[in-house]
Amino acid sequence: MSRFVSVALVGAALLVSGNAFAANYNAAAGKATYDASCATCHKTGMMGAPKTGDKAAWKSHIAKGMDVMVANSIKGYKGAKGMMPAKGGNTKLTDQQVGNAVAYMVGLSK
Ligand code: HEC
Repeated sequence: MSRFVSVALVGAALLVSGNAFAANYNAAAGKATYDASCATCHKTGMMGAPKTGDKAAWKSHIAKGMDVMVANSIKGYKGAKGMMPAKGGNTKLTDQQVGNAVAYMVGLSK
């Protein structure tokens, strides 16, 4: 019984923290990070990056959901079109800043 309760509690805590993180991406705050660290590739489509505002190019990425896209942006990502370095090459960025920049870009691209 106590085992069941603790499993249920851990599950509930994971659910809550997962939701809180997803809700915490701040697109407005992400603009500065995007301009400084992401636009080089994503504004022009350089190196095969999905271009900001190109809804067709973003469709398959957005379909994965924010959590997957943010995780890939943090650790680096190799897709069918090209390779993105971890955090766009700016390893000084916090995970939160990367998440905010993804939210900003995705907001302009769906
Ligand atoms: C050096 C070029 C470059 C920079 C800088 C860059 N990206 Fe990317 N990014 C790419 C490429 C290339 C892809 C996709 C490759 C593919 O689809 O084959 C990509 C894909 C993505 C995706 C889709 C990931 C997925 O799971 O489908 C996201 C989100 C993303 N970038 C966010 C960012 C953010 C946020 C920044 C700035 C912090 C950034 N990128 C900086 C090249 C770059």
